[in-house]
Parts: sequence; structure tokens; C-alpha cells
Amino acid sequence: MYRYIINGGKKLYGESYVSGSKNASLPILAACIISGKTTKLYNVPDIEDVRITLEILKDLGCKVKKEKNKIIINSKYMTETTIPENLMRKLRSSVIIAGAIIARFKKAQFSYPGGCDIGSRPINLHLENFKKIGIKINENTRYIECSCDKIESKNIELDFPSVGATENLILASVLGTQEVVIKNSAMEPEIVDLAQFLNRMGANVYGAGTNVIKIKGVTTLKDTSYKIMPDRIEAGTLLIAGAITGGMVKINSIIPEHISPVLNKLEEVGCEIKISKNAVYLNANQKLKAVNIKTMPYPGFPTDLQPLFSTLLTICEGTSIISENIFENRFKFMQEIQRMGAQIAIEGKTLIIKGVKRLHSADLESTDLRGGAAMVLAGLCAKGTTRVSNLKYLIRGYENLDKKLRDLGADIIREEGE
Ligand code: EPZ
Repeated sequence: MYRYIINGGKKLYGESYVSGSKNASLPILAACIISGKTTKLYNVPDIEDVRITLEILKDLGCKVKKEKNKIIINSKYMTETTIPENLMRKLRSSVIIAGAIIARFKKAQFSYPGGCDIGSRPINLHLENFKKIGIKINENTRYIECSCDKIESKNIELDFPSVGATENLILASVLGTQEVVIKNSAMEPEIVDLAQFLNRMGANVYGAGTNVIKIKGVTTLKDTSYKIMPDRIEAGTLLIAGAITGGMVKINSIIPEHISPVLNKLEEVGCEIKISKNAVYLNANQKLKAVNIKTMPYPGFPTDLQPLFSTLLTICEGTSIISENIFENRFKFMQEIQRMGAQIAIEGKTLIIKGVKRLHSADLESTDLRGGAAMVLAGLCAKGTTRVSNLKYLIRGYENLDKKLRDLGADIIREEGE
């Protein structure tokens, strides 16, 4: 397995860029199943979660071709409707592929996705609302078996604006003669990207980006080309890397408004932020101060950047209070950062941080995707050599993170570990 070797304590200076969005790519790759046609996707990140999703599509009978700057998927010859259990367990978010399979074949079989290190990750909102649009669900076998004659028109309301449940319901409702309305839908930019892609294929998805989404079924979809939106969580990760090292960075090829709550908080801690159409410039030459964070569904502060921002707050003067309102176990990574001298206390969904002057280097073991990235940033901040191992999580969601950080002047290399 790989590990990162980081010689920290240096201010980052320079410009870098982000790849295509992991969390937009996964539902859009699933959506390629529905058309039975050929799709060309550009700006898809070369990360483990995408590789696993492409494996699933191939197992289902899709033809997948990876070229230099695009992925071509032809789902014409697809016949299989069961998501392979071993791949389902590797990638819990592959549950949204079920919605796409049901849209086309009116049936699908898949296993429970299983939890991960940030929470139990149930799928009750997916299944309860599948039933409301006419999908019969049998949970008494090794697989969850879904089937329907057709998708039925229905106004549904989500108990919680779940990103995955919103995506799954949109995907399941694309084909047919029905009209499905999802109230209290998630409003994340990744859902807007999915809707734009589906409409480019000829679907009728209205209201994505608001909390009421309407899908009018259509009978056919067409060959399509589409470019995936930039990854807003990677954009935030690189900006926070600049902040935690007291540096001056510019991140290009991003959509600043996708992370405006994060930019506001970076200004509040004391960074200078300048925003242009598709780039953000950050200068952290001031002493940084503690702030409070509450993670919320979009357009609130994104839970995926809570581990990164919390790590920044370990060296901000004063006491910060962080409320993690989306996942029940998203502070686990902090136990590793504590080994670098961070002063923290965890009380349920609240993390209390008392800023220290600096962190010291250590050997760290990453526990999850964003927690692992947070450890890399802590290593960039701490003087001396920090090793971050167990990168199997990190490479799931970041393409060439070490190279992007070296673009900013970081002393970081990826080493084949034990
Ligand atoms: C998506 O996960 C993202 N993953 C997550 O990013 C992100 O943190 C999350 O949305 C919230 O923004 C992908 O898009 C692949 P949810 P998802 O359904 O869809 C509960 C990353 O680091 N819930 O909005 O799984 C759930 O337990 C990942 O890139 C139910 O209770 O998130 C959680 O507490 C991590 N029942 C909350 O809702 C359900 O049926 C939010 O989950 C579904 C969810």
C-alpha cells in the first residue's frame, strides 16, 4: 500500500487545479445505463471510486472504453440487473446504480451497502420512497430485490434531504409516462450536474438545485457527450492547505459559489480571499483566529470539508466549536491529529478545539477519505517529517493529490509502503 511522506512547516505558494467531481461522476456514470446508447464523459477523475463504478458497469454488460481525456460507455448490450455484492461492499454509494437499472429494466437486485468509518450509512430513505413510486421491494433474501410494472406518478417528501436518495429517485423516474415530484430534495451542485446530464440525454428533470425536483418520464434517450463539473471538495481541500501553512495559493478551474460557506469561514478565520469567475486566491499571512462551524446540507457548510477545516482550526488562536450535523461519526480522524499536539475534546456531535501555536510531526494512519486528507494537511503544517499511511481511502476520492500539493510547493512524496 502507499503512504505519503511529508516534510512540513513550509508556507505553500503557487497555483494548482482540481479534477472533475467524484460525487457528480458517480451518479452520472450510473445514469449512462438508462439510455442504452453511447455516452462520452469528459473530466471524469481517475480515482478508485470511479474505477469500481466502471467495473460494476462492465459486470452489468456495458462496454467501457477509457481514452486519454474521456470515458466512452455503451450500455446497449447490457442485460444484467444485479449489482455484484463484492463491488457493492467496496463502494456503498453504488446503491444509486439500482435506480438507473430499475429505470431501464423495471427490476434490480443489490446487497446492503454496509457502513463506513463516518457512520452507519442506512438506505431507508431510498427504499421507503422507491415503494412510494410503485417499486416492490423484497428484503428477505441475500439481495434486496426491486421490481415494478412501471414507475407511478407521485408527490413524495424526503424526511431528510439525502443526496443519494434524491439521486436514486431521479434516476429511477427518468423513463416512462409518470410525473414524480420530490420535495425536501437535496440541493447539492452534484445533483444539478446529474440533472443537466440527464436533460442533455433527453430527460425532463426540473428544479435541480432547489428543494423541489420534478421528473417527467420520457420514452427514449440519446447518445450524449458531457463534461463533469469541477470537484468542490478538492477545491476546498487545496485552499485549506494554503491556509494551514500560512501560504498564498490560487486554485484554478473551480466554481467559487459551490464553496461559498467555506470561503466565508476562511475569511472569518483571517485569510484574504479574492474570487474570480473560475478561480480563488487565498493569502493566509495574518494570525488566524478560532471560528465556529455547523455542517448542514447544501447550501450550508459541507460535511466533507469539516475534517479539513477542523484540522485548520487546531492552529487557530482561541476556542472553536464544530457541530457535525450530517454524519454521526465524523471526528474519528481527530484522534490521529491529537497525536500531533492538537488540543481537542469530543462531545457526541460536537468537537471543541483549543488552538495551539503549532502541531508537531507524527506517523499517522488514515481512517477514511476526508480524514486522511486532513492528516495530509496537518503534516504540511507541522515542522518535521509526517507519514500518512493507509492511503487506500484517500485515493478513492483524490486524483494525484500529492502532485497538486507539489504544484503549491509542498514537500510531499508518495512511497510504496508495506
Ligand atoms: C453523499 O453521500 C456524498 N457521497 C458524501 O460524500 C457526502 O458527505 C453526503 O452526500 C452529504 O453531502 C457521494 O455523493 C458519493 P446522504 P450520501 O444520503 O448520499 C442519512 C465524500 O467524502 N441517511 O445525504 O450517502 C445518512 O446516514 C462522501 O465524498 C439516512 O438516514 O449522503 C447521513 O447521516 C462522504 N437514510 C445523512 O442522511 C438514507 O436512506 C446524509 O446522507 C440515506 C441517508
